Formats: sequence, C-alpha cells, structure tokens
Amino acid sequence: MDYQQIIETKLIDFIPKNTLDESIKYSLLGGGKRFRGSLCYLTANIFNADLQKIHSSSCALEMIHAYSLIHDDLPAMDDDDTRRGKPTSHKKFDEATAILAGDGLQTLAFKTISEDKNLESDVKIKLLQILTNASFDMVLGQKLDIDSNDKTTLKELENINQLKTGALLKASVLMGGIIAKVDEKTNDILSDFANFLAKAYQVQDDCFDDKSDVEIGKTNNSDKTTFATILGTEKATKHYQELYDNALKELQKIDNSDNVKAIVLKMKNRKF
Ligand code: IPE
Ligand code: IPE
Ligand code: MG
Ligand code: MG
Ligand code: MG
Repeated sequence: MDYQQIIETKLIDFIPKNTLDESIKYSLLGGGKRFRGSLCYLTANIFNADLQKIHSSSCALEMIHAYSLIHDDLPAMDDDDTRRGKPTSHKKFDEATAILAGDGLQTLAFKTISEDKNLESDVKIKLLQILTNASFDMVLGQKLDIDSNDKTTLKELENINQLKTGALLKASVLMGGIIAKVDEKTNDILSDFANFLAKAYQVQDDCFDDKSDVEIGKTNNSDKTTFATILGTEKATKHYQELYDNALKELQKIDNSDNVKAIVLKMKNRKF
C-alpha cells in the first residue's frame, strides 16, 4: 500500500477550516517524504493493526514534524529561505504567520489523536504520552543545537541529534507498536531498532549539507558543527550507513517485517 498517498489524503481531512488553514496547508501538504507517518503505518501493520486506528497517529507525527520545520527555518533559528523546493513559511507569508502556523500544527497534532473515535482511551493516552515527550525532546534538542558551537563534541552532537530528530522518528515506530498492542518484548526490540534509525537520520541529513539547494530542496544557511564537519562526509556517511545496517539487524528479530525493512532501505538510500 502507498502510505505516502494515504497520508496526503488523510492530512487534508484533519485540517479544520480557519484563518490559519492556508499557511498550515502550505507547509503540511505535499513535498515531504513522509518517513515518520509511513513508519507508524508500517510498524503497526507488521502486527495486522486496524488501518482506521493508525491514521490519526501517522498524521499527528507529520504535523509535529511540519511545525518543527517551519520554526527551524525562522530567521531566529536557521534562517533558511527554501524548504521542500519552495519558499519557507516566513518567506511565503510573514514571520508572525509562520510562528502561528507552527503553533497551530503542534496543537492540531494532539487534537487529532485525542478526538480519534477509533482508539480506546488507554491506547490514546499512551500515544499522546509518547508524542508529547518526543515533541518536547525535539524542542530541547533544537535549543541545544542553537547553543552548539565549534567546540561541540561528537558525543554532544549525538545527544543533540537524538533529541532534535531521533525522538520523533523513534516515536513513529513505537506509536505503531502501541496501536498494535505489542507485548513488552516486542516493544523492546522495536525500541532498539528505532534507536539505530533515529541516530542515523540526522547524521545523514548533515551529510547532505554540501549539496546544492536544488538537489535537496532546501537552503542551509548554517555553518554548524556536525558529524559531517568533524569526521568529513565520507566517514560520516560510513557511520550512518552502519547505523542503518544495525537497525536492519534488529528488524530480523521480528517476523513479517519486510515492509519496514523496505522503508529503512529507502531511508538509507535517500538522496535528500
Ligand atoms: C528534515 O527531515 C529535518 C530533519 C529532522 C532531519 P526530512 O528530510 O524527513 O523532511 P521531509 O519531511 O522529508 O521534508
Ligand atoms: C532539523 O535539523 C531538526 C528539526 C527540525 C527538529 P536541521 O536544521 O538540520 O534540518 P534541515 O536541514 O533544516 O531540514
Ligand atoms: Mg536546525
Ligand atoms: Mg534547518
Ligand atoms: Mg540539516
């Protein structure tokens, strides 16, 4: 099943009509690779979860992610002009609208799960807990990222990456497991799997920083210290590829996980 397409369609249903919907739609719809939403669907599907129970979590993950990108691009943060091949929210609209679109998307994510009639209350609370913690970790990671400098060590960078990017990716996998009501042992394997995936993704993103804006669909104005600047792109690339391979090894412990394996390979081989 093409989950990217399902996500695009479902997201539209979850956006209420209001004065912010134009700017919310602008940043939420179209363009994203939808790895977070897809990971949630695919993980839940390993265990044959009911599709109707996954939509809200998958879309909520993409909403939090879109909000984080709008704010990440603001002049006070990375100050970038393009995202997903088009002007960033503050360039298309204005700064106040971009801040509010991000705020709106964040709230909408929690509204989307909390109002989902397909979910039992205990499952809903667990999903909201995981998403809330991951979102807060993302914010903490962004603060550490902003405060980082050329003396920041690899160990510190690993922590920053885990928080700003890893947390939401890990939540995408674990939320799939929660919807499918996996047992504790399976949850632990999913957690180990997601930890590797989470570590790999930002290092890979940093390796793309020396590519052209057109190739990766976004500007990168920051001259931040990253795994790629410390190790060099070649070594950093080897590092993230090993992390993906470790993630794939963890997956071997779970039967029927071929579709998740396929998306991990898609992530590993992505070009932007
Ligand atoms: C970009 O994430 C920012 C990071 C957290 C690394 P993605 O590369 O997954 O962004 P989209 O959603 O596909 O545009
Ligand atoms: C983004 O990291 C992390 C979050 C948005 C939480 P980057 O600043 O490296 O992401 P890009 O390169 O702008 O997508
Ligand atoms: Mg940033
Ligand atoms: Mg950025
Ligand atoms: Mg980046």
